[in-house]
Amino acid sequence: MSSLPVTRRSVVAAITGAVMLPKAALSMPTSTPAGAAPGKAPAKTLTPSNAEGTLDVISVARLEAAAQKVLSPGAFAYIHNGSGDQWTLAQNEVALRDMTFRPHRLAGFEQVDLSTSLLGHPLALPFYVCPMGAQDFAHQDAELVSARGAAEADVLYLLSTASNRPLEEVARASGSGPRWFSLYMNKDAAVNRRLLQRARAAGYSAIVLTVDSLGPGQSDEYLALGAPKTAISGYGNFDPRFGGTGEFTQLEKDFSPADIGFIREASGGLPVLVKGLLRPEDARRSLDAGAAGIIVSNHGGRTLDGAPASISVLASIVKAVDGRAPVLFDSGVRRGIDVVRALALGATAVGIGRPVLYGMALGGTAGVKSVLQFFQQETAAAMLLVGAKNIKDLSPDFLEASQLSLKAR
Ligand code: FNR
Repeated sequence: MSSLPVTRRSVVAAITGAVMLPKAALSMPTSTPAGAAPGKAPAKTLTPSNAEGTLDVISVARLEAAAQKVLSPGAFAYIHNGSGDQWTLAQNEVALRDMTFRPHRLAGFEQVDLSTSLLGHPLALPFYVCPMGAQDFAHQDAELVSARGAAEADVLYLLSTASNRPLEEVARASGSGPRWFSLYMNKDAAVNRRLLQRARAAGYSAIVLTVDSLGPGQSDEYLALGAPKTAISGYGNFDPRFGGTGEFTQLEKDFSPADIGFIREASGGLPVLVKGLLRPEDARRSLDAGAAGIIVSNHGGRTLDGAPASISVLASIVKAVDGRAPVLFDSGVRRGIDVVRALALGATAVGIGRPVLYGMALGGTAGVKSVLQFFQQETAAAMLLVGAKNIKDLSPDFLEASQLSLKAR
């Protein structure tokens, strides 16, 4: 595989042939493209990237700037932006950066061990790829690319219900790689049951119930650009081949703890994790209802603008969970040191979101692998610098919140 600096992009191919264009739908989940804003002419159809090549990732900031050059404005706005005034989006990064370290020195080691375990399964690396819908905004082969890249990097992969590719095709791309399925619940229980059975049959070993995507969350800029989509858009899990119409129908918004039991039963007993919690008592209620884990997340600032930075509530949720189950974390992770910050506060594993999509846009499968290897190298280097030999060594004692953080919150 040739090594492409992120500033050199591969040729972007024109894609022809429309398949299952999703209609504007009020019931779209937050992280799927909406219909055009009222009164705005629909923007041109987007042409996704078909890039393929290893990337020299120096930082996510540089990766993002390079991705902006290859993505059309609509695709970049869709991926990059947050909801409302993007306060929560910005806060995720501000609050992470403000957790400063008090490194341990004279620690007597030079090799660090990044392995961990999650729900009884070994993980080579303490991070995973977040579920992200409609990945054809980043690359023409959408989730096939990210799933392959994650498997090649030995990283756990989470697939969204809102994927462009059907979960079976993504499972084949992921091969023997560890994978979970993230459910956007439908109002029709039969639709959920069918999806969960398919996910189980295709080797997804846990189900993530996303509970924070309750309304429109598309960014202002994306809507102002006419909410453009790609010609190949469509929601593969609702493909007519699987009895669907190509569109989401009615999405559930009135979640309750009983949904956790339903998912567990309908999936044939797979562990269920609840994603999008920001309050300790919601974590406790989820565990009481049978959840196997919690994902602390504000959806990367794409839902409630005004939600706190995810990192600022992590410790309180870890405390409430009190070792009963793993607590995962995402939102704003851009460097290995951010992974270490969340692990030190008690996260079992850390989700990488947007950086994976930038890697896809610039380098397809090899680009995703490059991004995940960048996180691996940075996390290992950060562990050595803070003086933690392995993940078990990390604790909140390594961290303190700076004055700036107190002012910023
Ligand atoms: C998302 N996210 C998301 N979450 C989810 O549970 N189901 C989904 O379908 C999606 N879709 C989605 C699309 C896009 C383009 C993005 C960027 C994000 C949220 C995702 O899982 C995760 O919570 C955030 O991406 C984490 O924030 P950062 O690290 O990307 O800033």
